[in-house]
Amino acid sequence: HFYAVIMAGGGGTRLWPLSRQNRPKQMLRLVSDRTLFQMATDRLQGLFPVDHIYVVTVADQATELQKQSPNIPAENYILEPMPRGTASVVGLAAVVLQKRDPEAVMAVLTADHYIENVAGFQQILSSAQELARKDFLVTLGIQPTFPATGYGYIQRGELLGHYGQHDAYRVLRFKEKPNEETARGLLQRGDHFWNSGMFIWRVDRIQEEFSRQMGELYQTLEQIAKSWGTAWQTETLKKLWPQIKPQTIDYGIMEHAQQVAVLPGADLGWSDVGSWDSLFDVLPGDPNGNIHISAMHLGIDTRDTLVCTEDPNRLVVTIGVKNLIIVDAGDALLVCPRDDAQKVRELVKLLDQNG
Ligand code: GDD
Ligand code: MG
Repeated sequence: HFYAVIMAGGGGTRLWPLSRQNRPKQMLRLVSDRTLFQMATDRLQGLFPVDHIYVVTVADQATELQKQSPNIPAENYILEPMPRGTASVVGLAAVVLQKRDPEAVMAVLTADHYIENVAGFQQILSSAQELARKDFLVTLGIQPTFPATGYGYIQRGELLGHYGQHDAYRVLRFKEKPNEETARGLLQRGDHFWNSGMFIWRVDRIQEEFSRQMGELYQTLEQIAKSWGTAWQTETLKKLWPQIKPQTIDYGIMEHAQQVAVLPGADLGWSDVGSWDSLFDVLPGDPNGNIHISAMHLGIDTRDTLVCTEDPNRLVVTIGVKNLIIVDAGDALLVCPRDDAQKVRELVKLLDQNG
């Protein structure tokens, strides 16, 4: 009764110019010759039979994703006509799974993260499944290292018990994407985790939360569920999906959910690969701390610099630089100090505004 649902419809603008509108983060080969999406499906092997793995994505990404992970049955790709945020993704997967297996527990997983310790990841999912059977909404907590504003924060309460090798704690509060001042305060308290963005729960239990907190969306989903697997499926989706108000599972459900638990994922080696700078945590550098992704790079007096080129035959030479990010892809070249890697997102916004 255990199923995996990979959410794979996001954009990701912080890895520009390699990530683009038509080539989101999960489709990039950043850490190995497998894309992040392929790695997300690879690490489920052994824990889930392939027909228990679902992928929810938007129609225009589906063909490419299916090509990347062809072992997942085509009927397990759930297609949204257009992105409406992760709340609708989770809700749709829950009603579809409920039809197949009313006792299903679903692991909601991300398509664009890196997890170094795959065995540890499978162990924590197994522990989480046990806890989810007891009606908890289970989150996986990551030890925070800086006052990030792009993550959710989870406040740990009393110890609930041991599940597998893991301690489980009650969650007192879930706060999505706080501002920097709030984040600083939460970090100092020492009782907060980052939310990994992965969740484990019973399909009936999460539907309860949808009906309590997002009634309008829940009604739409029930209508879609009725048509699921019939000739009306596509038409119903086409008619109802555009009317859904975009919302994430974090704001829409988690911030005010009941019976939430957290399992600390201390040893997962988790990274959301959220910016070019994060790759320094994920990839081993050369003796000078330099990282080369696909590129041919020759450096003199060059330290702690990342060089990424789309064309593997492109030669990049650097002299006397340190702490730089250099990315050459498509029709653009990015040069940026490591400390400012977060600003790539602003830059992409600016480019969009100027056509
Ligand atoms: N199918 C589909 N449709 N997938 C989506 C959509 C959508 O409309 N929107 C996002 N996704 C996918 C992304 O591809 C990614 O795998 C996952 O859902 C999470 O979405 P993000 O957009 O990356 O969320 P976030 O990074 O802002 O925040 C979430 O993750 C953080 C950890 O990385 C939250 O859960 C935070 O609380 C968490 O800390
Ligand atoms: Mg993300």
